[in-house]
Amino acid sequence: MIKEQPDHDNLPDKAPVLVFDSGIGGLTVLRELRVWLPDRRFVYVADDAGFPYGDWEEEALCDRIIKLFDRLLAEHKPAIVVIACNTASTLVLDDLRAAFPFMKFVGTVPAIKPAAERTRSGLVSVLATPGTVRRAYTHDLIQSFASKCHVKLVGANLLATLAEAHIRGERIDEAQVLEQITPCFVEEDGRRTDIVVLACTHYPFLANVFRKIAPWPVDWLDPAEAIARRTISLLQESEGQGENGKMRENSDHPHDVAEFTSGKPDFAIRRLLQGFGLQFDHIDG
Ligand code: DGL
Repeated sequence: MIKEQPDHDNLPDKAPVLVFDSGIGGLTVLRELRVWLPDRRFVYVADDAGFPYGDWEEEALCDRIIKLFDRLLAEHKPAIVVIACNTASTLVLDDLRAAFPFMKFVGTVPAIKPAAERTRSGLVSVLATPGTVRRAYTHDLIQSFASKCHVKLVGANLLATLAEAHIRGERIDEAQVLEQITPCFVEEDGRRTDIVVLACTHYPFLANVFRKIAPWPVDWLDPAEAIARRTISLLQESEGQGENGKMRENSDHPHDVAEFTSGKPDFAIRRLLQGFGLQFDHIDG
């Protein structure tokens, strides 16, 4: 169903960038967006009531996200939305754009094209949730941009949850992490995997652990910077801003906020949000 455009009369100068993920993974993208858009206001939304997205049936997840955005767009009136989640982007981007044609959506999809351009061995692995690995979108990316490479898709069923635990300050079992990433490391005819695409926004939080326990050194490709650049270019297109898309000269702006659909992120998450300068936004219901 196509939705009506909300009343954006006093926009765009105060309109925030809305960053969305199933959990805290999108903070790895927010971190980069802030570097490039230091004067922007951000709203971070985590659908933690639905976490993890990796195991959801496609249709049910699609419906859930579209419904959620019906409310989020009306409430926050963002200038642009960044879907900082591969599992959601590879499923629902087209549907979101069709349902809300007045809004620009930047997606986060596996960085298969840059990996194919950079690999020297021709062996690339894509580390993602089981959902992202199953998506037709991901298989199309390989066919379109990496047909000359050997691309190994690795669906990790526990890593997003382990990343959440790690970032909460809990001890994680490195042997369990190693078990999840080991299928990424392929040796074939004297060649070895040299690039692993981090195709879940939770995984950059574990990058140091990955580097420490990896069977051999590889490039861990994090798409956050590319997403930030894409966001700026779309903002400039719609708002005609200068280089950095700087918008917020006044210091009387409201705080950046975070909304969690459960309504009750635990203490460790609230502390993390505070560290990111995000004020926890209580929602009713
Ligand atoms: N952060 C999400 C992504 O980029 C996945 C986490 C989940 O399984 O919900 O795919």
